[in-house]
Amino acid sequence: MSHHESFLSRLKDSLFFSWSGLKRHGMVGSVAPSSPWLTREICRRIDYPNALLVVEFGPGSGVFTREILKRLRPDARLVAFELNDEFVHRLQGRITDPRFTCVHAGAETAHEFLQSEGLGDADALISGLPLAYFPEEARTAVLQGAVRLLKPGATMSQFRYFANFGEEFSLYFPEFDMKKVPLNLPAAYVYHGKKA
Ligand SMILES: C[S@@+](CC[C@H](N)C(=O)[O-])C[C@H]1O[C@@H](n2cnc3c(N)ncnc32)[C@H](O)[C@@H]1O
Repeated sequence: MSHHESFLSRLKDSLFFSWSGLKRHGMVGSVAPSSPWLTREICRRIDYPNALLVVEFGPGSGVFTREILKRLRPDARLVAFELNDEFVHRLQGRITDPRFTCVHAGAETAHEFLQSEGLGDADALISGLPLAYFPEEARTAVLQGAVRLLKPGATMSQFRYFANFGEEFSLYFPEFDMKKVPLNLPAAYVYHGKKA
């Protein structure tokens, strides 16, 4: 793809994202896809040479997805869970990498899906879910499921637009750290939590 085509493709993704986001703001939770700086930070803890199963929650237009696939081993799998049917349709149509599966289902069903498919436990989890908009019960279901689907020592990376998530995140991931990413619209905070 030329630079010109890749710019146009990114622009189209952004417009589609904003349009889809405005239509269903509560579910998407932001009006633009994450920046390259946020993408780099949220994907930073993936142990690419060794990871065989990476899970993604809420891929949206696929900015994190593409970055992960660029670096993932040829024999690894990336399984994403997305609720918005327009994003699912678009991702399934545009990302033909055989390592990638986009499941049209809520993140809270991920553990059950991975077990039923015999995929085992995950080496890393990347989440773009707008957890701040979730009712407490739904947030609890997602975070409990996240801990369950990871291998011991594996990391969940989640971003938020406010630095107020530490107390709740630490209930599930007592060992965690947070990085601010100013170059994003709006500035974001990435929480990396390690499963005990
Ligand atoms: C803020 S967007 C993030 C998109 C992309 N990862 C990024 O950073 O640009 C949140 C995404 O989570 C999806 N989503 C919301 N609730 C979900 C759920 N319960 N399970 C899976 N995906 C969900 C939305 O449809 C949307 O695509």
